[in-house]
Amino acid sequence: MLTVDHVSVWLARKRVLEDISLRAEAGQITAIVGPNGSGKTTLLRAITQELPYAGKIYLEGTEIGALRGWELAARRAVLPQASRIAFPFTVLEIVRLGLSAGATAAPDTRALEALARVGLSGFEGRYYQELSGGEQQRVQLARVLTQVWAPIGPHGPCWLLLDEPVSSLDIGHQLEVMELAADYAARGGGVIAVMHDLNLTAMFAQQIILLASGHAIAQGPPAHVLTDDLLSRAYGCDLQVGTSPAPPIPYVLPQMARRTIQS
Ligand SMILES: Nc1ncnc2c1ncn2[C@@H]1O[C@H](COP(=O)(O)OP(=O)(O)O)[C@@H](O)[C@H]1O
Ligand SMILES: [Mg+2]
Repeated sequence: MLTVDHVSVWLARKRVLEDISLRAEAGQITAIVGPNGSGKTTLLRAITQELPYAGKIYLEGTEIGALRGWELAARRAVLPQASRIAFPFTVLEIVRLGLSAGATAAPDTRALEALARVGLSGFEGRYYQELSGGEQQRVQLARVLTQVWAPIGPHGPCWLLLDEPVSSLDIGHQLEVMELAADYAARGGGVIAVMHDLNLTAMFAQQIILLASGHAIAQGPPAHVLTDDLLSRAYGCDLQVGTSPAPPIPYVLPQMARRTIQS
């Protein structure tokens, strides 16, 4: 379990997150949703120890700040929201960074296996900078997978911490990546993913935390969080939630703007 206990974050003297508590279970996908600027990336960066915060964060009962870098690297891998690479690395070189970060004893074929998992077999010799945004995103995902390949390690579940893992992918690749995350969770790993697409979130997440202006305004299973009222309040527009016929999964449809357009 990954536990966030009363965490607040200040950036440039502004409180960006206020008193967030959350329990993410291994074996599930926990999604962080909310409008732009609501604090999703900040919450993930507190969890990944990239930002100072007040409060406590525990990984399987151990305060995460007490773990050394290499211990952390073997137990959780991070997909940042944007990964700009300044040097002309090949795809294989990028994916192998995951091996050197966490899985130093892994076989050399692991990187190729990870590329196959994200549908990029044959891309290993290509230059990262010459790929499309969606391909780059899948290369980064392959790097993350090589780092924590086994969902359960010697210290318990490993974690994928993903900031908008599907935001620049087409619908087919979005489903592929979400299925990959779901498979990781089904095999005992933990997944925390920042998500924009509420329908994909409803399909794949077991738990959702909804942020608005740095506050968690709701958290729980999709049917509890994805309601007309909560979503319309969080996103500041008129949203209506329906339920698909069997299996019953909530889906979100924007309504026509109520505002009358003056000519
Ligand atoms: N380094 C920073 N310094 C000051 N403010 C920041 C910094 N990073 C993010 N913020 C602010 O914190 C808020 C939350 O940002 P972020 O967590 O990136 O939002 P989200 O990922 O939900 O779009 C925004 O208002 C953003 O402008
Ligand atoms: Mg963000």
